[in-house]
Amino acid sequence: MASSLVAGLDIGSAKTTAVIAEVVGDLPKHPTVNVLGVGQARTTGLRRNVVADIEESTRCIRKALEDAERMAGARVDAVYAGIAGEHVHAMTSTGIASVTGSEITRADVDRANAVARAQPIAQDRELIHAIPQEYSVDKNVGVRDPIGMIGTRLETEMYLVTIGSSPAMNLRKAVERAGYKVAELVLEPLASALAVLTDDEKELGVCLVEMGAGTTDVAVFHEGKIRYLGTVPLGGLNVTSDIVHGLGVTQADAEGLKEKYGCVYEPMVDRAEVISLPSTVAQGDRQIPRELLAHIMHQRTGEIYEMVCGDVERAGYIKKLAAGVVVTGGAAAQPGTPELASDIFGTGARIGVPGEFLGGLADNVMQPRFSTVVGLVQYGAHRVALGGAAHKSRRISVAGGAPGVDRIAQRVKTWLQDFF
Ligand SMILES: Nc1ncnc2c1ncn2[C@@H]1O[C@H](COP(=O)(O)OP(=O)(O)OP(=O)(O)O)[C@@H](O)[C@H]1O
Ligand SMILES: [Mg+2]
Repeated sequence: MASSLVAGLDIGSAKTTAVIAEVVGDLPKHPTVNVLGVGQARTTGLRRNVVADIEESTRCIRKALEDAERMAGARVDAVYAGIAGEHVHAMTSTGIASVTGSEITRADVDRANAVARAQPIAQDRELIHAIPQEYSVDKNVGVRDPIGMIGTRLETEMYLVTIGSSPAMNLRKAVERAGYKVAELVLEPLASALAVLTDDEKELGVCLVEMGAGTTDVAVFHEGKIRYLGTVPLGGLNVTSDIVHGLGVTQADAEGLKEKYGCVYEPMVDRAEVISLPSTVAQGDRQIPRELLAHIMHQRTGEIYEMVCGDVERAGYIKKLAAGVVVTGGAAAQPGTPELASDIFGTGARIGVPGEFLGGLADNVMQPRFSTVVGLVQYGAHRVALGGAAHKSRRISVAGGAPGVDRIAQRVKTWLQDFF
C-alpha cells in the first residue's frame, strides 16, 4: 500500500515525543492524519530547550522514534522537528512584483514573496518561516488570495521568523546522530497553534499560551494572521520547585502532589480539605490543607500568566483577543487553568487539546502535552497535501515481512499561505 507517512519530533525539557502518522485526506488546508504510532522518552539532556548534552538528546530522540516506529509498524527517515521559541526573532517584510499578464498568477505571487523573503539575515541566524500575511493589488489592500485578480502591481506582506543558528545546528546534529534527517524545523508555538486553534479563533483574535516544563511559549493571532511570538523562560518545573521548597518534599513527590491534588485556582479548593504529605521518618506524619498546595501553584502559575499578559499588552494585542486565551502544554492539565487564565487576561479561556482532523490512534495524543508534536505532524501533512515533501518512508512489517512501497516525492517549494 502506498502511503504518505509523516513523523513529528518534539524535544521538550521534560520529555521527547515522536508521532508517526499517515496523511489520508488531501485537503491542503486541513489534511486528515491518522496517528499510527506514538513514542516518548524522558528528556534529560536539555536545559531550557537548548541541546545541552548531545549524547543524551540523541538517546532520547532514538528511543522516542523507535517506540513510535514499533507501534506504527513503519520506519521513517525524516522528521519534522520542533524548535523552541527562545531564540526567535520575527519581523514583517514587504515585497513588490509587477504583474506580467492580464491577471495575477501563482508565479507573480511567488516572485513578490521571494522579494519579501530576500532580507539580509545575520550570520548567526537562520530563517525558518516565511509566512505571507496579506497582499495588496494596486490600491486594494488586505487581499487574502490575489491569484486571478486584475492589476499591475502586487505587494506582499510577509512575516519572517528567524532563529539562532547554533541551537538549530545542535538540534539537527542530535537528530542525525540518532539516525534520522530533519525534514524541516518548525517553531514549537506555531506547531501547537496548528493543533489546537480553530480558524474562527485566529480570525477573532486569540492568544495561545503553551506552558511546558521549562518555558511558556506564546503566539497571538488576529484577523487570521500571526501577530506576535514570545517566550517566558518559566514553566511547570518552576511550579514544582516552589512545591519542593514550600512543602519540604522531593521533586518526584512534588510532581505527584501536583498531579493528584493540584489546582492552580485557589478559590476552587474546599478550605476544609486536608491532604497527607509524603514524609521521611524524621518528618513524621504531615498533613496540610489542600488550599496551601493550591496557593503555591496559583501564585507561580499566575505570575507566569501575568508575564505573558504583559508581553502581549506591550505588543498591542491585549484588547484584540475576542476569542480569548487558549492554554495548552503539559501544565495546562492543572485543574483551575481556564479559571486562572480568564482572571488574569480578563477574557474567556479554554484548554487546548489536539484532536481535530485526527484519526487512527488519535486517543493516544488527545492531551494538552501532545499539542506540539501533533502540530508538527499536521504541518508535515500539510506539506504532503500540497504535493511536496513526502519524504522517503518505508512501510514495513517490523516483524520481518516484505518491505512495502518506497515513495520518494519531489520536494516542491511552497509558501505556507493561509496556513498559520
Ligand atoms: N496532570 C498534571 N498536573 C499538573 N501538572 C502537570 C500535569 N501533567 C503534566 N504537568 C506538568 O507539565 C509540565 C510538562 O509539560 P510538557 O510535557 O508540555 O513539557 P515539555 O514540552 O517537555 O517542556 P518545554 O516545552 O517547556 O520544553 C511539567 O512541569 C509537569 O509537571
Ligand atoms: Mg513543549
